[in-house]
Amino acid sequence: MADSRTAAQEIAAGYESVGAAVELGTVFVDGQVDPSARVRIPLSMINRHGLVAGATGTGKTKTLQNLAEQLSAAGVPVLMADVKGDLSGLAKAGESSDRITARAAETGDDWAPTGYPVEFLSLGGDSGAIPIRATITGFGPVLLSKVLGLNATQESTLGLIFHWADSQKLALLDTKDLRSVIQHLTSDEGKADLKGIGGVSSATAGVILRALVNLEAQGGADFFGEPEFEPSDLMREIDGKGVISLLELADQQANPKLFSTFLMWLLAELFEHLPEAGDLDKPKLVFFFDEAHLLFDDASKAFLERIEQTVKLIRSKGVGVFFCTQLPTDIPNDVLSQLGARIQHALRAFTPDDQKALSRTVKTYPTTPNYKLAEVLTSLGIGEAIVTVLSERGAPTPVAWARLRAPRSLMGALGGDAITAAAQASPLHAKYGETVDRESAYEKLTAKIESAPEAPAPAAEAPRRQEKEEPGMFEQILSNPAVKSFLRSAASSAGREITRGLFGTRRR
Ligand SMILES: Nc1ncnc2c1ncn2[C@@H]1O[C@H](COP(=O)(O)OP(=O)(O)OP(=O)(O)O)[C@@H](O)[C@H]1O
Ligand SMILES: [Mg+2]
Repeated sequence: MADSRTAAQEIAAGYESVGAAVELGTVFVDGQVDPSARVRIPLSMINRHGLVAGATGTGKTKTLQNLAEQLSAAGVPVLMADVKGDLSGLAKAGESSDRITARAAETGDDWAPTGYPVEFLSLGGDSGAIPIRATITGFGPVLLSKVLGLNATQESTLGLIFHWADSQKLALLDTKDLRSVIQHLTSDEGKADLKGIGGVSSATAGVILRALVNLEAQGGADFFGEPEFEPSDLMREIDGKGVISLLELADQQANPKLFSTFLMWLLAELFEHLPEAGDLDKPKLVFFFDEAHLLFDDASKAFLERIEQTVKLIRSKGVGVFFCTQLPTDIPNDVLSQLGARIQHALRAFTPDDQKALSRTVKTYPTTPNYKLAEVLTSLGIGEAIVTVLSERGAPTPVAWARLRAPRSLMGALGGDAITAAAQASPLHAKYGETVDRESAYEKLTAKIESAPEAPAPAAEAPRRQEKEEPGMFEQILSNPAVKSFLRSAASSAGREITRGLFGTRRR
């Protein structure tokens, strides 16, 4: 009976699923759209990851909005980077219009204006959203190297410095702490310690120090400190809907590299702390990396390998990752090959480089008798995409030119006042609203020395210091051989030495 089916029906047959699915839109083929021919991603396959790509203004952000809405409605929490602020409209019901009504009819959508539970987070700044932070210790040397723009040698040196601080159980809460440790190691008193680490040149340590000072000068210090964000706060539900956490890019000055690396930190944290989940009906959380090229641009080989590994392994923990970028060639091949779903909006083919990217993109799709991909990819309308995903059985679906559904929430920005109001009303506000400047590396150290005769307390529970010591004090204490041997035994006897995961982030 196959020949009695239209081409649209034939394509859509590849997208049928028994379980629930995210509805992307409907098939466009032979010059018309068939509202009954559904293009969708089974919820059980969202943890096989995806890519949303396309030239500027082609509908990528609206596609993300669509995905987030339906995941939320299915009870799946979502984390998204809101780089341009235009995803904030997710919190508010959209407005009907003739265009929306027409699109709803074409895409078989019983469209109704709907708002979703949104948590507005930001990295420092005063966007009105809830400021979230990581500690330097928690962030670890690999991700920090990316933020600081260090080369491979400098990265491994920073790793050794962290290792030294870890083994001394010096919690590095903020950039001041790391600065004081590097300053110690490059001082006359710290030379012996520096030698003990092995292979660290004080010139390299000096370069790292300067990069750190630069980061601080650019306001980067605000993002590091306590209270450290707990990734479990991303995994919430309100009235059966998954909470959509939007990471707002606070202002233009904000450091986009820090922003994307911070998202990677959250992913690495989840990877370290979530249990193996096996095959699930729906994911536990979905991550959207908008402007994903920021993550990959001038990343070290080691860094790229770790991204690839994390993306590969996190799927068994029930987390889906979607990258969003202008060109699929922005994503390294080893990562691209991990992405089960492709939603490719229109590409431009103006320059020879564009042409190259286009033909490489075409090659990443299964062959299709229905479309001339190179032509179609440059002539797609706004809110249309070339799609292939993994079917419920894990096989690639037929390539579909899809007209995509319209978001049900507001297309566009919510506005600063509404974001501030939402953040003030959030349960996370009390937890993260204010920075706590608790202890620094040297304070922890002296606290341990005071409790020396007893079994030393694990670093995390070290008693608070009443007042700060002079920096000179820190260096004197560290350079005292008796103190050093005490510290070594303290670190091993307490049994809570910091261990680091795949991405160099701390294991808790
Ligand atoms: N699925 C859709 N339904 C209805 N309208 C859409 C859809 N997709 C895109 N549009 C329209 O196209 C405009 C641009 O879309 P969008 O902001 O998603 O582009 P973009 O690819 O994210 O662009 P940029 O790269 O500049 O961020 C939207 O403001 C909206 O008017
Ligand atoms: Mg966009």
